[in-house]
Amino acid sequence: MTPKQIVNELDRYIVGQFNAKKAVAIALRNRYRRSKLSPADRDEITPKNIIMKGPTGVGKTEIARRLAKLVKAPFLKVEATKYTEVGYVGRDVESMIRDLVEVAIRLVKDERYKEVEARAFERAVDRVADLLLKQSKELPEGITKVAVIDEVSKHNLDQMQVEISVADIPKPVELQAGGGEINIGNIFGDILPKKTKKRTVTVEEALRIIASEESEKLIDLDSVESEALKRAENDGVIFIDEMDKIAGKSSQNGPDVSREGVQRDILPIVEGCTVSTKYGNIKTDYILFIASGAFHVSKVSDLIPELQGRFPVLVELDSLGVDDFVKILTEPENAITQQYRKLLAVDNIDLSFTDDGIAEIANVAYDQNNTLEDIGARRLQSIMEHIVEDISYDINEEGEPKKVVIDREYVLNNFTTESRNLKKYVL
Ligand SMILES: Nc1ncnc2c1ncn2[C@@H]1O[C@H](COP(=O)(O)OP(=O)(O)OP(=O)(O)O)[C@@H](O)[C@H]1O
Ligand SMILES: [Mg+2]
Repeated sequence: MTPKQIVNELDRYIVGQFNAKKAVAIALRNRYRRSKLSPADRDEITPKNIIMKGPTGVGKTEIARRLAKLVKAPFLKVEATKYTEVGYVGRDVESMIRDLVEVAIRLVKDERYKEVEARAFERAVDRVADLLLKQSKELPEGITKVAVIDEVSKHNLDQMQVEISVADIPKPVELQAGGGEINIGNIFGDILPKKTKKRTVTVEEALRIIASEESEKLIDLDSVESEALKRAENDGVIFIDEMDKIAGKSSQNGPDVSREGVQRDILPIVEGCTVSTKYGNIKTDYILFIASGAFHVSKVSDLIPELQGRFPVLVELDSLGVDDFVKILTEPENAITQQYRKLLAVDNIDLSFTDDGIAEIANVAYDQNNTLEDIGARRLQSIMEHIVEDISYDINEEGEPKKVVIDREYVLNNFTTESRNLKKYVL
C-alpha cells in the first residue's frame, strides 16, 4: 500500500490526526522501500522510530489498533508500564521481542494453513468417512466408501454423531510469578507418546478438528519458524503505549524506582541487538518502534536522552473540537451512534439522530471537556450512555416496535446548562 492508501484506510475509522497517520504511513512504506534494496544498502538503513504525543482520548491507541489490522506485518502492541527492569519480578523488555516472534509465527502459520486448507479438508473427509463406516448404524447397508466421502464432503451428514480421538493436551502450569509459564506437555511432548481421549462429536465438528490436525501435519514447522523470524526481524512493528508513564525523574522509592531502568533496558532493543527466542536468535535493528503517550505530566524531554535520540520522528496529535466530535459520532465505520442503533434494534427500538441532535451532543461534549477534564472522544461515550439510559431501560415487554428520535431538544432536556458542569457525568 502507498502512504496515501494507508492514510485513506485509517481515515475510515479515525477522524483527523493527519500528521500522525502520515508519519506511520511513511514509516511503513519505508519498510517496503528498504526491502527492494541490495542487501548491502538494506543493512545500512534502519527504521525511523516514531513518538506519538497527544492528550488522552484523541486516537493514539486507536491508530495503532487499526494499523495492526491493516498491515500484514507482525505487529505487537504493548504497554510500557507492564515491564520491569531486569532483576525485578515481572516481565523484562526482551519478552516483547519474543512476543513479536510469536505473532509472526501465528501470521505465517495462518498463511500456510490457508495454502493447505483444501488438502487438509480432503484428508479429514476421508478419515471421517472411515470412522462413519466403522461406527454408524444409520448408514444404509452396503454403502460404499466413495459414496460416504461424497456425502460427507457435501456436508450432508454434518449433524450425524461420530466418535473421534483427540489429543489430550495438559493445561500449562504457571510456575513463575508474572506470567512466565511453561507447558510441561510441550517439554515432554517429544519423549512421551501423545495422550489421546475419545470424544463423540458431530461430523461437522469432527471435520473441523481433524482438518486442523491434518493441516498441522501438512505444514513444515521448520520453514514456518525461519520465515517468521525473518518477517519479525525485517517487517516487525512494536507499538509501545503509555510511554510517558515510564518517563520522568524517578523518585527514589516506591514503584517508581525502576522506571529509568526500564528505559535503559529498552535502549539496546530499539538501538539494535540480538535477542534469543525459542525459535532462534533475532536481530532487533530493523524492527519499527512507535511509542505513544499523553506526555502531559511528564514530557518527551523527561525520557533519558539516549532513548529520545532513538525516536527521531515526533508527531503531535490535536485535541478534539466540536466539529471533530460531530464527525466521530457519525462518520467512522460503526460510529458510536450506529452502535447504539444496532444494539437497540435488537429490542425493536428504532433509534435515530437528527443533525441538530448530533451537533448538540458534540457541543455538550466540548463543554464538559472544557469545564471538567479533557478526556477527548471518550467523553462522547459517557454522554451517549446518559442520553440513551432511559430508552435502554424502558423497553416494551411485548417487543412492540418503538421509534425514538434524538433531536436537539431531547439532548437539551437531558443536559441542562447546569448539568453540563455537574461532576455527576464524570466517568
Ligand atoms: N480522532 C478520532 N476519531 C475517531 N474516534 C476517536 C478519535 N479519537 C478517539 N476516538 C475514540 O475514543 C476512544 C479513545 O481513543 P484512544 O484509545 O485512541 O485514546 P488515546 O489517544 O490512546 O488516549 P490515552 O492517552 O488515554 O491512551 C476510542 O474508542 C476511539 O475510538
Ligand atoms: Mg491509549
